Amino acid sequence: MNKNAPLGLFDSGVGGLTVVREVFKSLPREKVIYFADTGRVPYGPLPQEDIQRYTVQIVKFLAERGAKLVIIACNTATAAGLEAAQEAVDIPVLGVIEPGALLALETSQNKRIGVIATEATIKSGAYERTIKSMDPDAEVFGQACYNFTPLIEAGKKDSEEIAEYAREYLATFDGKDIDALVYGCTHYPLLEELVQGIVGDGVAPVNPAVRAVEQAEEILADSGLLSDRTEDPEHEYFVSGDPDAFAELGSVILERPLPPVGKVDME
Ligand code: DGL
Repeated sequence: MNKNAPLGLFDSGVGGLTVVREVFKSLPREKVIYFADTGRVPYGPLPQEDIQRYTVQIVKFLAERGAKLVIIACNTATAAGLEAAQEAVDIPVLGVIEPGALLALETSQNKRIGVIATEATIKSGAYERTIKSMDPDAEVFGQACYNFTPLIEAGKKDSEEIAEYAREYLATFDGKDIDALVYGCTHYPLLEELVQGIVGDGVAPVNPAVRAVEQAEEILADSGLLSDRTEDPEHEYFVSGDPDAFAELGSVILERPLPPVGKVDME
């Protein structure tokens, strides 16, 4: 494997760009290939079998385009399809849930941890199971935030509509005495200011992407596959939906213009 081969990342939409941001910060020499399944977003309401099938399909696409490692930059796809994807390709495939669980336990003092995620992730029980397998004394409180992803994808992350939903969803943590909140959907760090304003300073935000990217770095370093390129990498972006809409939102999230976004038919 060539050490200057790209890192593959994917999500149902623009949310995974919050993981790409961490790659840009920590691994600025690495080239990224990003796939957003915007033709089929949101994944949250879908059955696990469909999400698993899409996950395997996209991980294979990234491997075929030469990725040396894939980060599933989507909690919903990690919960439904991480193991199937790992079996489908012969490159390392990482998810965001185990890193998020580790970081949550490192962050929380009282081991009372809130998780906000899509309905599919909450239903899968993946965060609770993973956190409790690491510390059986931890208490995990999950809340599905049904409308966040569709509103973020529609460019409404700063709307009063999303703020109202946030107040409604986060009320579930009242009286639970949580001191850490896992942003268990990669779209949600885009709402950090809003969410932290509601839950307050006593609740520390946990962004699984930070730990996931550290794990990717460790794996690449151990196998001698960290990039040694000296020029700026030319990242590539693909979508299954509307390339222009993705480029517009994506350039705001990444604070840089995006190169032409490719369109891939996934059906
Ligand atoms: N960003 C995704 C996640 O981390 C999925 C959002 C969705 O498609 O519902 O779970």
